[in-house]
Amino acid sequence: MRHWVIVPAAGSGRRLGADVPKQYLPLAGRLVIEWAIEPLLGRDGLLGICVALAADDRRFAQLPLSRHPGVEACAGGRERSDSVLRALRAIESRAAAEDWVLVHDAARPCLERADVDALLAAVGADPVGGLLATPLADTLKHADDAVRSDRTVAREDLWRALTPQAFRYGVLREALERAEAEGAAITDEAAAVERRGLRPMLVDGRPENLKITRPRDLELAAAILMARGAGE
Ligand code: CTP
Ligand code: MG
Repeated sequence: MRHWVIVPAAGSGRRLGADVPKQYLPLAGRLVIEWAIEPLLGRDGLLGICVALAADDRRFAQLPLSRHPGVEACAGGRERSDSVLRALRAIESRAAAEDWVLVHDAARPCLERADVDALLAAVGADPVGGLLATPLADTLKHADDAVRSDRTVAREDLWRALTPQAFRYGVLREALERAEAEGAAITDEAAAVERRGLRPMLVDGRPENLKITRPRDLELAAAILMARGAGE
């Protein structure tokens, strides 16, 4: 299956509050970004990996990963969606409209190779694409202004969106260009695609595929990776 990988890695990790962007923090013997990209390497049909970096990033070029065949970097943008759009533009002369593009956060180090395989298998011949996601397990509460629960929200049809998200190059490019032109705030690729009236497929993925957001998430991620035998 012809596919590209785009890794938005241009964020600063404000909520984590470390002195380096979170994607460059050490975790179970590697850096977060190295863990994030590894499960996406080496599949038949992989055409290239484009990593979107902050303008002042001097760290990525120091990593062995930056010299891996097929890995290239481009400049990211102000928001995550701008970074993804810039990466799509960077590969435009080589990408076909039907090619798959897998977008995966540099801050998600616990992705399992099997979940990438499941996503690719699920989207298969679909004209649109889909995303890894996980059904909500906890009961949901709605908070009032005083942060007291005023009602319980039905969770039956709710899923948490994860990454990778896999869309056809042409579908994703058009959706993100349109969202940008309309000034719409987009937090994941699927949101841009939904705005075009299309329905991305929800592919059941492991909930351990968390996004490092706050300091506690680093401890959790380390525990998940260690349980898989990392760092031995
Ligand atoms: N990202 C990006 N370009 C941006 C903002 C974010 O490429 N302008 C990337 C981040 O590097 C991360 C992913 O998008 O891999 C998910 O974003 P998020 O978790 O929000 O990371 P940060 O923006 O770095 O964190 P924060 O919002 O706490 O500052
Ligand atoms: Mg952010």
